[in-house]
Amino acid sequence: PVGEVRDRLARPLRDLRISVTDRCNFRCVYCMPKQVFGKDFRFLPHAALLSFEEIERLARIAVAHGVEKIRLTGGEPLLRKNLEDLVGRLAALRTPAGRAPELTLTTNGSLLRRKARALADAGLTRVTVSLDALDETRFRRMNDVDFPVAEVLDGIAAARDAGLGPIKVNMVVKRGVNDDEIVPMARYFHGSGVILRFIEYMDVGESNGWRLDDTLPSREVIKRISAALPLIPTGRRQAAETAERWIYADGGGEIGVISSVTKAFCGACTRARLSTEGKLFLCLFATQGHDLRALLRSPDVDDARLSSIFAQIWQQRDDRYSELRGSDALAPRPAGARVEMSYIGG
Ligand code: GTP
Ligand code: 5AD
Ligand code: SF4
Ligand code: SF4
Repeated sequence: PVGEVRDRLARPLRDLRISVTDRCNFRCVYCMPKQVFGKDFRFLPHAALLSFEEIERLARIAVAHGVEKIRLTGGEPLLRKNLEDLVGRLAALRTPAGRAPELTLTTNGSLLRRKARALADAGLTRVTVSLDALDETRFRRMNDVDFPVAEVLDGIAAARDAGLGPIKVNMVVKRGVNDDEIVPMARYFHGSGVILRFIEYMDVGESNGWRLDDTLPSREVIKRISAALPLIPTGRRQAAETAERWIYADGGGEIGVISSVTKAFCGACTRARLSTEGKLFLCLFATQGHDLRALLRSPDVDDARLSSIFAQIWQQRDDRYSELRGSDALAPRPAGARVEMSYIGG
């Protein structure tokens, strides 16, 4: 049973986001706060991780069911040993139409200078780098491991030199923490060819202590940038995109805003997420995933069976958390603890 699958809201599956490690060398305050992810935090043991063979097997099935874009995430994906071997395997997959899926990576950039070339050689198409501030003190405080901003900027340059473009930079905006970096970031990347995207700080996971007041609405981001550098809205190029695009009136390129809190985009959500230990999550805000590792490791489950189970899981999907929550921070939440961003990837 191969071919396109649709969920209960008629959404096809197009994107597979694969988390390759739950570890990270940063402790961003909005993602892995030190109070929770301290010395005693227990990360997944090595045996729990899907092997590259197992990931490849699932990705091949997903691609047969309509996936056109694969994104590697973490934690910090470049901490996973020999990641370029996995990239090579995934780059060799082909969609039913015979095309290679787009293959990308979301990274904090700290190891990019060292790894960009090998990743590009293995078949990675492009990268997205997270960067929340240009100001040194601010950046070190946000990553909370004293990591210097210059090394991330070097990583971005290395990725560009390796042909991993167009490069996107993600900035999570937390009100009162780094919102005064919005305009400096916009100016810095204006005209550079890098696509800067501003992300509304979200209530993902259980440990970041999110409050609605911490989220600066994207319309405010646009207002502040426009006052310095006039912008023209161009919307989404494809309905399933997370970001709404804006271009600079002076030809200085484009930016994006990702407004999952003030303007949810679940209606066209085509994304599935595979955790490091092989659970398939149908929403970033899910409390539970479907355990595919047990199936992968069962001698009774062949590819045909795995493929049909995979399709059924998608067909039963009705998740649209951000839309249901709306901007109402007090809206009732599904029971159970939501998974952490560092576990499921962005
Ligand atoms: P591009 O193809 O590069 O545009 O990728 P993308 O927009 O899918 O990816 P990226 O990984 O850069 O995601 C950007 C931000 O959007 C991250 O902070 C994610 O947390 C958020 N995001 C991505 N997908 C979803 C989603 O399905 N739901 C919600 N609520 N947020 C999402
Ligand atoms: N809200 C919004 N974005 C977040 N990210 C991590 N935690 C959050 C959050 N609570 C971002 C990272 C990265 C992407 C994968 O998700 O900064 O850019
Ligand atoms: Fe690590 Fe990214 Fe989370 Fe920061 S946002 S702690 S870099 S996984
Ligand atoms: Fe998709 Fe869930 Fe995000 Fe909505 S909240 S866009 S359904 S991942």
